[in-house]
Amino acid sequence: MAEIIDGKAAGEEVVAKVKERTAQLIAEAGVQPGLAVVIVGEDPASQVYVNSKSKKAKDCGFHSEQHTLPAETSEAELLALVEKLNADPKIHGILVQLPLPSQMDAGKVIQTIAPEKDVDGFHFNNVGRLGTGELDAAFVPCTPAGCMLLVEKIRGADLSGLSAVVIGRSNIVGKPMANLLLAANCTVTIAHSRTKDLPALARTADILVAAVGRPEMVKGDWVKPGATVIDVGINRVIAAEGEKAKLVGDVAFAEASEHAGAITPVPGGVGPMTIALLMANTLKSAYRAAG
Ligand code: GUN
Repeated sequence: MAEIIDGKAAGEEVVAKVKERTAQLIAEAGVQPGLAVVIVGEDPASQVYVNSKSKKAKDCGFHSEQHTLPAETSEAELLALVEKLNADPKIHGILVQLPLPSQMDAGKVIQTIAPEKDVDGFHFNNVGRLGTGELDAAFVPCTPAGCMLLVEKIRGADLSGLSAVVIGRSNIVGKPMANLLLAANCTVTIAHSRTKDLPALARTADILVAAVGRPEMVKGDWVKPGATVIDVGINRVIAAEGEKAKLVGDVAFAEASEHAGAITPVPGGVGPMTIALLMANTLKSAYRAAG
Protein backbone atom coordinates (compact mmCIF):
# COMPACT_ATOMS: atom_id res chain seq x y z
CA MET A 1 0.00 0.00 0.00
CA ALA A 2 1.10 3.53 -0.80
CA GLU A 3 2.54 5.99 1.67
CA ILE A 4 -0.01 8.76 2.22
CA ILE A 5 1.64 12.14 1.74
CA ASP A 6 0.65 14.44 4.59
CA GLY A 7 0.20 17.85 2.97
CA LYS A 8 -1.22 19.32 6.14
CA ALA A 9 1.96 18.57 8.10
CA ALA A 10 4.19 19.71 5.21
CA GLY A 11 2.18 22.94 4.90
CA GLU A 12 2.51 23.57 8.64
CA GLU A 13 6.29 23.16 8.36
CA VAL A 14 6.42 25.80 5.62
CA VAL A 15 4.16 28.14 7.62
CA ALA A 16 6.28 27.71 10.78
CA LYS A 17 9.37 28.85 8.82
CA VAL A 18 7.45 31.78 7.34
CA LYS A 19 6.39 32.89 10.84
CA GLU A 20 9.96 32.74 12.09
CA ARG A 21 11.36 34.71 9.16
CA THR A 22 8.51 37.24 9.39
CA ALA A 23 9.39 37.98 13.01
CA GLN A 24 13.01 38.36 11.93
CA LEU A 25 12.16 40.75 9.08
CA ILE A 26 10.05 42.91 11.39
CA ALA A 27 12.74 42.97 14.07
CA GLU A 28 15.69 43.60 11.75
CA ALA A 29 14.24 45.79 9.00
CA GLY A 30 10.98 47.08 10.45
CA VAL A 31 9.11 45.63 7.47
CA GLN A 32 5.89 43.69 8.05
CA PRO A 33 4.84 41.56 5.04
CA GLY A 34 1.44 42.66 3.70
CA LEU A 35 -1.00 40.58 1.66
CA ALA A 36 -4.12 41.96 -0.05
CA VAL A 37 -6.67 39.42 -1.20
CA VAL A 38 -9.41 40.62 -3.56
CA ILE A 39 -12.63 38.76 -4.26
CA VAL A 40 -15.40 39.86 -6.62
CA GLY A 41 -18.84 38.32 -6.18
CA GLU A 42 -20.16 35.66 -3.88
CA ASP A 43 -19.06 32.27 -5.16
CA PRO A 44 -19.16 30.21 -1.93
CA ALA A 45 -16.11 28.05 -2.72
CA SER A 46 -14.05 31.16 -3.59
CA GLN A 47 -15.17 32.83 -0.35
CA VAL A 48 -13.94 29.86 1.68
CA TYR A 49 -10.55 29.92 -0.07
CA VAL A 50 -10.16 33.67 0.29
CA ASN A 51 -11.09 33.67 3.98
CA SER A 52 -8.56 30.97 4.72
CA LYS A 53 -5.85 32.88 2.83
CA SER A 54 -6.52 36.09 4.79
CA LYS A 55 -6.64 34.22 8.08
CA LYS A 56 -3.38 32.35 7.43
CA ALA A 57 -1.71 35.66 6.56
CA LYS A 58 -2.72 37.03 9.99
CA ASP A 59 -1.44 33.83 11.64
CA CYS A 60 1.93 34.39 9.98
CA GLY A 61 2.16 37.88 11.49
CA PHE A 62 1.42 39.65 8.19
CA HIS A 63 -0.60 42.77 7.59
CA SER A 64 -3.65 41.16 5.94
CA GLU A 65 -6.35 42.94 3.93
CA GLN A 66 -9.40 41.43 2.30
CA HIS A 67 -11.29 43.45 -0.32
CA THR A 68 -14.73 42.08 -1.10
CA LEU A 69 -16.40 43.69 -4.11
CA PRO A 70 -19.96 43.11 -5.34
CA ALA A 71 -20.50 40.86 -8.38
CA GLU A 72 -21.61 43.83 -10.50
CA THR A 73 -18.34 45.78 -9.98
CA SER A 74 -16.99 47.16 -13.26
CA GLU A 75 -13.61 46.15 -14.64
CA ALA A 76 -12.47 49.78 -14.34
CA GLU A 77 -13.28 49.80 -10.60
CA LEU A 78 -11.32 46.60 -10.03
CA LEU A 79 -8.37 47.91 -12.06
CA ALA A 80 -8.42 51.09 -9.95
CA LEU A 81 -8.23 49.00 -6.76
CA VAL A 82 -5.33 46.95 -8.17
CA GLU A 83 -3.47 50.17 -9.08
CA LYS A 84 -4.03 51.49 -5.57
CA LEU A 85 -2.63 48.28 -4.06
CA ASN A 86 0.31 48.39 -6.50
CA ALA A 87 1.22 51.81 -5.09
CA ASP A 88 0.66 50.92 -1.41
CA PRO A 89 3.97 50.32 0.41
CA LYS A 90 2.23 48.26 3.13
CA ILE A 91 1.27 45.65 0.51
CA HIS A 92 3.83 43.16 -0.83
CA GLY A 93 1.46 40.60 -2.31
CA ILE A 94 -1.76 41.06 -4.30
CA LEU A 95 -4.04 38.13 -5.05
CA VAL A 96 -7.18 38.56 -7.12
CA GLN A 97 -9.23 35.42 -6.66
CA LEU A 98 -10.27 33.69 -9.90
CA PRO A 99 -12.66 33.16 -11.57
CA LEU A 100 -13.85 36.74 -12.07
CA PRO A 101 -17.37 37.69 -13.20
CA SER A 102 -17.94 37.65 -16.96
CA GLN A 103 -17.90 41.46 -17.45
CA MET A 104 -14.20 41.43 -16.58
CA ASP A 105 -11.20 40.46 -18.68
CA ALA A 106 -9.29 38.33 -16.14
CA GLY A 107 -6.13 38.48 -18.28
CA LYS A 108 -6.15 42.27 -18.23
CA VAL A 109 -6.68 42.34 -14.46
CA ILE A 110 -3.80 39.93 -13.84
CA GLN A 111 -1.43 41.86 -16.12
CA THR A 112 -2.26 45.06 -14.20
CA ILE A 113 -0.87 43.59 -10.95
CA ALA A 114 2.69 44.83 -10.44
CA PRO A 115 4.93 41.82 -11.25
CA GLU A 116 6.89 42.34 -8.02
CA LYS A 117 3.62 41.95 -6.03
CA ASP A 118 2.22 39.11 -8.16
CA VAL A 119 2.43 36.39 -5.50
CA ASP A 120 0.17 34.12 -7.59
CA GLY A 121 2.86 34.08 -10.30
CA PHE A 122 0.35 34.72 -13.10
CA HIS A 123 1.85 37.90 -14.59
CA PHE A 124 3.70 37.40 -17.91
CA ASN A 125 6.99 38.48 -16.27
CA ASN A 126 6.75 35.69 -13.72
CA VAL A 127 5.42 33.14 -16.23
CA GLY A 128 8.37 34.02 -18.48
CA ARG A 129 10.92 33.71 -15.69
CA LEU A 130 9.58 30.27 -14.78
CA GLY A 131 9.62 29.29 -18.47
CA THR A 132 13.27 30.30 -18.82
CA GLY A 133 14.22 28.52 -15.60
CA GLU A 134 14.93 31.66 -13.51
CA LEU A 135 13.15 30.20 -10.53
CA ASP A 136 14.71 32.41 -7.87
CA ALA A 137 13.71 35.60 -9.68
CA ALA A 138 10.18 34.39 -10.42
CA PHE A 139 7.12 34.11 -8.27
CA VAL A 140 6.12 30.52 -8.94
CA PRO A 141 2.36 29.75 -8.81
CA CYS A 142 1.51 28.45 -5.35
CA THR A 143 -0.19 25.14 -6.18
CA PRO A 144 2.53 23.72 -8.45
CA ALA A 145 5.26 25.05 -6.12
CA GLY A 146 3.56 23.18 -3.27
CA CYS A 147 3.28 20.02 -5.38
CA MET A 148 7.02 20.13 -6.07
CA LEU A 149 7.81 20.28 -2.34
CA LEU A 150 5.64 17.19 -1.80
CA VAL A 151 7.31 15.33 -4.67
CA GLU A 152 10.75 16.20 -3.27
CA LYS A 153 9.73 14.95 0.16
CA ILE A 154 9.11 11.54 -1.35
CA ARG A 155 11.73 11.37 -4.12
CA GLY A 156 14.48 13.55 -2.64
CA ALA A 157 15.84 16.75 -4.18
CA ASP A 158 17.25 15.05 -7.30
CA LEU A 159 14.46 14.17 -9.74
CA SER A 160 16.82 13.89 -12.75
CA GLY A 161 15.68 11.54 -15.46
CA LEU A 162 12.37 10.61 -13.86
CA SER A 163 9.39 10.40 -16.13
CA ALA A 164 6.61 12.85 -15.23
CA VAL A 165 3.12 13.05 -16.69
CA VAL A 166 0.98 16.09 -15.89
CA ILE A 167 -2.70 15.64 -16.73
CA GLY A 168 -4.17 19.11 -17.30
CA ARG A 169 -2.84 22.15 -19.15
CA SER A 170 -4.19 25.12 -17.20
CA ASN A 171 -2.14 28.26 -16.73
CA ILE A 172 -2.64 28.00 -12.96
CA VAL A 173 -1.46 24.41 -12.46
CA GLY A 174 -0.70 22.17 -15.46
CA LYS A 175 1.67 24.38 -17.44
CA PRO A 176 3.68 25.78 -14.50
CA MET A 177 3.86 22.28 -12.96
CA ALA A 178 5.33 20.93 -16.19
CA ASN A 179 7.87 23.77 -16.25
CA LEU A 180 8.93 23.08 -12.65
CA LEU A 181 9.37 19.37 -13.34
CA LEU A 182 11.35 20.21 -16.48
CA ALA A 183 13.57 22.61 -14.52
CA ALA A 184 14.18 19.67 -12.14
CA ASN A 185 15.40 17.55 -15.11
CA CYS A 186 12.38 15.27 -15.39
CA THR A 187 11.20 14.04 -18.77
CA VAL A 188 7.81 15.71 -18.91
CA THR A 189 4.64 15.04 -20.87
CA ILE A 190 1.55 17.23 -20.60
CA ALA A 191 -1.66 15.31 -21.23
CA HIS A 192 -5.12 16.79 -21.76
CA SER A 193 -8.61 16.04 -23.03
CA ARG A 194 -7.36 15.27 -26.57
CA THR A 195 -4.54 12.96 -25.52
CA LYS A 196 -4.74 9.49 -27.08
CA ASP A 197 -4.64 6.47 -24.77
CA LEU A 198 -4.23 8.45 -21.59
CA PRO A 199 -4.20 5.34 -19.32
CA ALA A 200 -1.18 3.92 -21.17
CA LEU A 201 0.62 7.27 -21.04
CA ALA A 202 -0.14 7.70 -17.33
CA ARG A 203 1.35 4.24 -16.67
CA THR A 204 4.75 5.48 -17.92
CA ALA A 205 4.94 8.09 -15.14
CA ASP A 206 7.24 7.90 -12.13
CA ILE A 207 5.55 11.15 -11.08
CA LEU A 208 1.88 11.47 -12.01
CA VAL A 209 0.14 14.82 -11.43
CA ALA A 210 -3.62 15.06 -11.95
CA ALA A 211 -5.07 18.58 -12.35
CA VAL A 212 -8.18 18.35 -14.47
CA GLY A 213 -11.13 18.85 -12.14
CA ARG A 214 -12.83 15.54 -12.95
CA PRO A 215 -13.77 13.47 -9.92
CA GLU A 216 -11.80 10.21 -9.63
CA MET A 217 -10.88 10.15 -13.32
CA VAL A 218 -7.46 8.54 -12.78
CA LYS A 219 -8.04 4.86 -12.06
CA GLY A 220 -5.87 2.44 -10.14
CA ASP A 221 -4.56 0.65 -13.24
CA TRP A 222 -3.36 3.98 -14.72
CA VAL A 223 -0.70 4.12 -11.97
CA LYS A 224 2.74 2.60 -12.50
CA PRO A 225 3.74 0.45 -9.51
CA GLY A 226 5.66 2.63 -7.05
CA ALA A 227 4.77 5.94 -8.73
CA THR A 228 4.38 9.20 -6.80
CA VAL A 229 0.82 10.44 -7.36
CA ILE A 230 -0.06 14.09 -6.76
CA ASP A 231 -3.79 14.82 -6.85
CA VAL A 232 -4.58 18.51 -7.36
CA GLY A 233 -8.34 18.02 -7.85
CA ILE A 234 -10.86 19.27 -5.31
CA ASN A 235 -14.28 18.12 -6.51
CA ARG A 236 -17.49 18.34 -4.54
CA VAL A 237 -19.60 15.28 -5.26
CA ILE A 238 -22.93 14.09 -3.91
CA ALA A 239 -22.86 10.29 -3.80
CA ALA A 240 -26.61 9.83 -3.44
CA GLU A 241 -29.63 12.09 -3.24
CA GLY A 242 -30.03 13.62 0.19
CA GLU A 243 -26.44 12.88 1.17
CA LYS A 244 -23.92 15.54 2.13
CA ALA A 245 -21.42 16.58 -0.55
CA LYS A 246 -17.96 15.13 -0.05
CA LEU A 247 -14.64 16.20 -1.47
CA VAL A 248 -12.84 13.89 -3.85
CA GLY A 249 -9.77 14.38 -6.00
CA ASP A 250 -9.09 13.69 -9.67
CA VAL A 251 -7.66 10.30 -8.65
CA ALA A 252 -9.66 7.27 -7.48
CA PHE A 253 -7.76 7.26 -4.20
CA ALA A 254 -8.47 3.76 -2.85
CA GLU A 255 -7.56 1.90 -6.05
CA ALA A 256 -4.62 4.17 -6.89
CA SER A 257 -3.21 3.54 -3.38
CA GLU A 258 -2.84 -0.13 -4.26
CA HIS A 259 -0.36 0.72 -7.04
CA ALA A 260 1.32 3.98 -6.05
CA GLY A 261 4.44 4.24 -3.90
CA ALA A 262 3.07 7.46 -2.40
CA ILE A 263 -0.09 9.46 -2.95
CA THR A 264 -1.66 12.72 -1.74
CA PRO A 265 -5.12 12.49 -0.15
CA VAL A 266 -8.02 14.90 -0.79
CA PRO A 267 -8.52 16.80 1.41
CA GLY A 268 -5.22 17.16 3.29
CA GLY A 269 -2.79 16.82 0.38
CA VAL A 270 -2.10 19.64 -2.05
CA GLY A 271 -4.68 22.12 -0.62
CA PRO A 272 -2.78 23.12 2.53
CA MET A 273 0.43 23.47 0.49
CA THR A 274 -1.16 26.05 -1.83
CA ILE A 275 -1.91 28.39 1.07
CA ALA A 276 1.48 27.79 2.67
CA LEU A 277 3.30 28.70 -0.56
CA LEU A 278 1.20 31.86 -0.91
CA MET A 279 2.57 32.91 2.48
CA ALA A 280 6.10 32.00 1.40
CA ASN A 281 5.75 34.06 -1.81
CA THR A 282 4.45 37.07 0.13
CA LEU A 283 7.36 36.84 2.55
CA LYS A 284 9.80 36.60 -0.39
CA SER A 285 8.27 39.77 -1.83
CA ALA A 286 8.58 41.61 1.50
CA TYR A 287 12.26 40.58 1.84
CA ARG A 288 12.91 41.94 -1.65
CA ALA A 289 11.14 45.20 -0.83
CA ALA A 290 13.27 45.51 2.32
CA GLY A 291 16.38 45.22 0.10
N1 GUN B 1 -8.67 30.25 -8.06
C1 GUN B 1 -8.35 28.95 -7.93
N2 GUN B 1 -7.03 28.82 -7.65
C2 GUN B 1 -6.52 30.06 -7.59
C3 GUN B 1 -5.22 30.57 -7.31
O1 GUN B 1 -4.25 29.85 -7.09
N3 GUN B 1 -5.11 31.92 -7.34
C4 GUN B 1 -6.15 32.74 -7.62
N4 GUN B 1 -5.93 34.05 -7.63
N5 GUN B 1 -7.36 32.30 -7.87
C5 GUN B 1 -7.55 30.97 -7.86
